[in-house]
Amino acid sequence: MKILRPVAGFLPTYGYFSNYCDSFEGRILDYGSNCGNLLKSGPLNPANYTGVDVDEFALYVGKVRFPKAQWLHHNRWHPCYNPDGDDSFVDLPEVDLAFSYSVFSHFWFEEFIHTLQRIKAKQIYLSYCDIKNSKCVEWFREQLTDPEEIPTDEKFIYLVDNYVSREVPNKCAKFTSFWNTEYLVHLLGRFGKVEAFPPPERWYQSCIRINTA
Ligand SMILES: C[S@@+](CC[C@H](N)C(=O)[O-])C[C@H]1O[C@@H](n2cnc3c(N)ncnc32)[C@H](O)[C@@H]1O
Repeated sequence: MKILRPVAGFLPTYGYFSNYCDSFEGRILDYGSNCGNLLKSGPLNPANYTGVDVDEFALYVGKVRFPKAQWLHHNRWHPCYNPDGDDSFVDLPEVDLAFSYSVFSHFWFEEFIHTLQRIKAKQIYLSYCDIKNSKCVEWFREQLTDPEEIPTDEKFIYLVDNYVSREVPNKCAKFTSFWNTEYLVHLLGRFGKVEAFPPPERWYQSCIRINTA
């Protein structure tokens, strides 16, 4: 097994999504699950949970922690999370609820749409970075050395390592996308009823909820 990077640090993402989601009943998909912070941080039944990630080692750790959950790997290309990957996409199970914390925040336009076309859920909750939320923008910039300013009047823009771009590189250390909320809500309208919410206290990323029914 290829170890791409250490597993994600613990973040109580169940607490994050419980600000927007009233009931976690039914089958759950955690897209970009890493080692299962969502499961670790809330009272979810592992037997109802499927985690998907490009990081085989993170999934292995998830499986050791929660053997009753389902863990799916795909070797999908990402410029920083999986630069040697390909265009494969694993078949996702049909679920009631899909959650994705800090995954679409690192997706570019085409990947955002491509992935949502493949998630089969009644409701989808995903976090994203609001270009007009200076706390969020500055938090990501602070992780970098001498980063460029993010122009707040764009529909979307990428911060690639420390420079601002509209292009996706073959490989980079960090990739974050920032979105104009109105534009994103309009763009995702093709998937159902879309609502956007600001981040809860002490969090930086905003949340999109899509009711696909
Ligand atoms: C910032 S981490 C967030 C991990 C987890 N959601 C959490 O909150 O702890 C982003 C995760 O997305 C995964 N990822 C990136 N591209 C992916 C893709 N196309 N499909 C599935 N997972 C992906 C990465 O491997 C990484 O585990």
